[in-house]
This record gives sequence, C-alpha cells and structure tokens, in this order.
Amino acid sequence: MKIRKAIIPIAGKGTRFLPATKQIAKEIIPIINTPMIHYVVKEAVEAGIEQIIFVTSSGKFSVEDYFDRNLELEAYLERNNKFKELELIRKIGSMVDVTAVRQKEQLGLGHAVLMAKNMIGDEPFAVLLGDDIVINKVPAIKQLMDVSMGNNGASVIGVMEVPKSDTSKYGIVKGDIVNEKTLRMTGMVEKPKPEDAPTNLATPGRYILTPDIFTILEKIPRGAGNEYQLTDAINVLCMEKDVFAYRFEGERFDTGNVHGYLDATVDFALKDPETRDKFVASLKIRLAKYGIQL
Ligand code: G1P
Repeated sequence: MKIRKAIIPIAGKGTRFLPATKQIAKEIIPIINTPMIHYVVKEAVEAGIEQIIFVTSSGKFSVEDYFDRNLELEAYLERNNKFKELELIRKIGSMVDVTAVRQKEQLGLGHAVLMAKNMIGDEPFAVLLGDDIVINKVPAIKQLMDVSMGNNGASVIGVMEVPKSDTSKYGIVKGDIVNEKTLRMTGMVEKPKPEDAPTNLATPGRYILTPDIFTILEKIPRGAGNEYQLTDAINVLCMEKDVFAYRFEGERFDTGNVHGYLDATVDFALKDPETRDKFVASLKIRLAKYGIQL
C-alpha cells in the first residue's frame, strides 16, 4: 500500500532556541534563508508523500502559513518584476497539502503521534521529526518506504550508529541481523544509559508505521521522562509483528540544538556555490581574528 501521509510533530516549545522561540516557531528559524522545517517537508515530498499532518501547539500558525500561498506577497513581487522570487514562493505554497491537529498538552512523542490518528485512518504512514534534517539524494524516508514495500508493508524504523556515550539521547533498537543494513527488531528502549543500552543503534526521527501502532499508543503507560513514548509503542509492536530497523544512507543534522544547527549552517554554506567562496573568505578572516589555527 502506498504511503501517502506523513506526521510531523512540531508542538515542542523550542526552549533551546530561546529567546527567538519566545516569539517565533522554532521550525521557522532558517538555515541560511530557508526555514528548518522546509528541509524536512521537502524530504517527505520528494519521497512521494501527498499530505503532511503537523501536530502543533499554540504559536505554530507560521508553519502552516509558510506552506500556504501568500497572495499579497505574490502580487507585490509581480508588480516589482521579481519573478525569480515569485516562482520560489509560489512553489513553496503549492509544495504539498498541509493540515494540522493540536496537541493540547505536551505529553510526549507517542501522544503527539496519537493526535493524528483520525487524520491517518487505516493506512501506513511516515513520521518525520522536525529537529532532524537528513540530506541524501534518495530521501531517508523513501529508503524506509522501500524497505517496508519489500517486506509486506511492515513498519520500518530508521537507525544510525552513535557513540555508546550518546545512547541516552535517543531511542535505541535491538534485533536480529537480516543483512548488513537491516535488523528484524526484538525491542526498543527510550534513552537508555550507556551501560543499559542493548546496542548503539539510535533512531534519529524517521519512521514508517502501520496503523496498528495507534491501538498500542492508546494503551501504553507513561514511560521515560513521565511521557507517552513512541519508542514504548514500537517496542510492543515489534513483539506482535515484523518491525525492521534500517540503517539508512544520508547525513543527519540534529538541528534541535544550537551546535547541530551551527553545523548544518556551516555545511550548507560550504555546499552551495552561491555562498561558498565568500563564506570561506569570511571564515579565514574570523579564524585569524580569534587566533585559531586549523
Ligand atoms: C525523540 C524520540 C527518540 C528519538 C529522538 C530523535 O526524542 O523520543 O526516541 O531518538 O527524538 O531525535 P527527543 O529528542 O524529542 O527527546
């Protein structure tokens, strides 16, 4: 069955980006000139997703507006012969069908995903976390879709290796090896201490899930951090059904924290021929100014 819908939870308050997030949605903070959420939605659209369901909280209207048409701005750009810019913003406005559902209390990722149950209905779907930007020619979520397709539509969780010392930042999976990149999962645990972690395979926010996850989400108790964890529901699901973990290809930036955000900004500035040369020149000057030798 084709995966048409993606849930992107964006209800978080973005406290690591205060004071900016006092007034604007974290997802709208740009990397160079493009909001972070744009990259995540682009990944989904390039993978063939037709509908995005944002799980939001108050103060997130700007994310929905960003993916809507802005007729006033379009008219302004047209009047001023700014056709390149006009095309750019029209394209964003017609990129994908967007809907939103509220998460009225921040009770965890599992709870956020459950809020979209009625919008999803009885079909498999994708979940992409907005704090994780993954860059790859074949979108990471498309790679997971393909693995799902090849395994009778089973749930597939994207994983990457992390240093053992970082296991307490992620959901960690365990399972039996199917091939070099794939495990048949036997369990998943949320943010274990390094000494308790079953593996160092972490889940950086890319999931293909079958709708039976909702029944589980309705039943699970609160878990780590006293929140309803998607991880706990997946842990139950993999005991009932085939669930695969897949080591996808792509470079992942954790833009949910300031360091990861800076890392992405520097990388994108160096990658883009329009910014590269001047940026390198600036970097050289700044490094010399602060007496930093590489
Ligand atoms: C969430 C999930 C965790 C996952 C992580 C990826 O945690 O609960 O399983 O590995 O996102 O970024 P959070 O970072 O929101 O605390």
